Amino acid sequence: MTRTNEERTVVLGERVRLRPMEPSDAEALWRWNSDPEVMRWMSDGYRQTLARTVERFSQREPNRYEDVLYGVECLDDEMLVGLVRLHGAEPETGIAEIDVYIGEKQYWGRGLATDAMRTMCRYGFEQMRLHKITLTVVTENRSAHHVYSKLGFVEEGRLRQVFRRDGRWHDMYLMGLLEGELR
Ligand SMILES: CC(C)(COP(=O)(O)OP(=O)(O)OC[C@H]1O[C@@H](n2cnc3c(N)ncnc32)[C@H](O)[C@@H]1OP(=O)(O)O)[C@@H](O)C(=O)NCCC(=O)NCCS
Repeated sequence: MTRTNEERTVVLGERVRLRPMEPSDAEALWRWNSDPEVMRWMSDGYRQTLARTVERFSQREPNRYEDVLYGVECLDDEMLVGLVRLHGAEPETGIAEIDVYIGEKQYWGRGLATDAMRTMCRYGFEQMRLHKITLTVVTENRSAHHVYSKLGFVEEGRLRQVFRRDGRWHDMYLMGLLEGELR
């Protein structure tokens, strides 16, 4: 069955469409998580088989207020290129945490992470009535830090030696964005 763009759209940005992840997306996720360059500044845990990733993915709880995971699709060619996740939201506090990554490296530098973040933050503030969105980023992850700063996130703290990679400890910035600050 061919679906229209409207049916497939959950949240539309200028360059990306955010949509729920399908079980068939597990292979792409597994591939991204196996790429050391993509995972350079991300927590990767223990490697899992593709079969285990598929199984975990199919057992994932449905999207809900506390945990919204969307695939990032490039509007130009409808390719699934990464994901964005808004999690830990509580109606009592109106605070949630955001994660993003673009796993298809050939799509880096095309403004997709910026648009995916902006679109997801707008969704959080406007649809979910959030007051604040936070994130953490390794201080050396210059491109990610640049994207977040461009969107209006500000550094609120520096977590010393909380990320270990290649035998070295790295600091992380805690960053935050209040409603009304999104650029
Ligand atoms: C970081 C990441 C999300 C950026 O995605 P992207 O789609 O390439 O981002 P965009 O194209 O929207 O923007 C990248 C920006 O970083 C800038 N940039 C690239 N390398 C940079 C560097 N070394 N220092 C400073 N800025 C840099 C680009 O110039 C661009 O800014 P501009 O639009 O103002 O010119 C992507 O590279 C990624 O997923 N990396 C692996 C996973 C990861 O690190 N995720 C973040 C975890 S906190």
